Amino acid sequence: GTTLGASAAEKGRYFGTAVAGFKLSDNTYTTILNREFNMVTAENEMKMNATEPQQGRFSFSAADQIVNHARSRGMSVRGHTLAWHSQQPGWMESMSGSALRQAMLNHVTQVATYYRGKIHSWDVVNEAFADGSSGARRDSNLQRTGNDWIEAAFRAADAADPNAKLCYNDYNTDNWTHAKTQAVYNMVRDFKSRGVPIDCVGFQSHFNNDSPYVSNYRTTLSSFAALGVDVQITELDIEGASANTYRSVVEDCLAVARCNGITVWGIRDSDSWRSYQNPLLFDGNGQKKAAYNAVLTALNNG
Ligand code: G3I
Repeated sequence: GTTLGASAAEKGRYFGTAVAGFKLSDNTYTTILNREFNMVTAENEMKMNATEPQQGRFSFSAADQIVNHARSRGMSVRGHTLAWHSQQPGWMESMSGSALRQAMLNHVTQVATYYRGKIHSWDVVNEAFADGSSGARRDSNLQRTGNDWIEAAFRAADAADPNAKLCYNDYNTDNWTHAKTQAVYNMVRDFKSRGVPIDCVGFQSHFNNDSPYVSNYRTTLSSFAALGVDVQITELDIEGASANTYRSVVEDCLAVARCNGITVWGIRDSDSWRSYQNPLLFDGNGQKKAAYNAVLTALNNG
């Protein structure tokens, strides 16, 4: 293939990017998007504060702009995200207990129902584990509704959109030896053993000098896959955009049969949430970087 999406497709995989809706009027941005990618994640527009700004009043216009742009061009969509401690609407941030649990489940149900049949994979729950060595759940208003809030969210999503893949998504879960990775692994193993409807695990893979790519990443992907879930690289960016590291990530995904695809978290360096790290595949002018060529070659050689 001559593009990321086409080359990934030849390997039975997708290659995606995060998209910010307000950039779809930027011709350079949209030209690269439409040429290179066959999977799209809304960078912010499908989050809880965007889709339910007032309780019970849903707002899908910003998300629909991205979903329609993608699907009308044959791209698929990752839904990000149904339940998260961050970027909650103000009304939800101040809720607790059973009222919050019910509001969260209603949100999952309403959003997944609205998009039923249109989403390749949902990040049903995002970032629910603590950083550091505890292996514990992250403290949040959702966690304080009870430890079973995650499986409740997955059951609600499954009832609303039974044919979408339902993913748990997190960061700093790339290094197989880290407590957070093991804690997520144990949750997924438990969910599979009890029939909780989980289909996939998303590895955000925001690599930087503090949490770098490590060679046991492939072990992490294959170990989760061995539990009977798909794995997806969902928010890839690499500080400095090392071509060697990008190549390794692609090779690791291609080496794991259940690695469905790779999504980078933005198109140009200037689009990145960490633009100062120049972590992406295109420079600020939309020119392909060395990392782009490494990724394309790895996809074609794999
Ligand atoms: O839209 C408002 C704008 O009206 C306001 O004037 C401006 C002032 O701060 O803020 C704008 O909202 C910002 C939004 O991005 C849209 O640009 C928020 O402040 C800002 O916090 C938000 O950042 C996003 C961040 O998630 C929020 O947690 C980033 O764009 C987005 O890339 C980032 O993505 C996350 C994933 O969802 C989950 N994994 C980590 C990843 C990186 O942090």
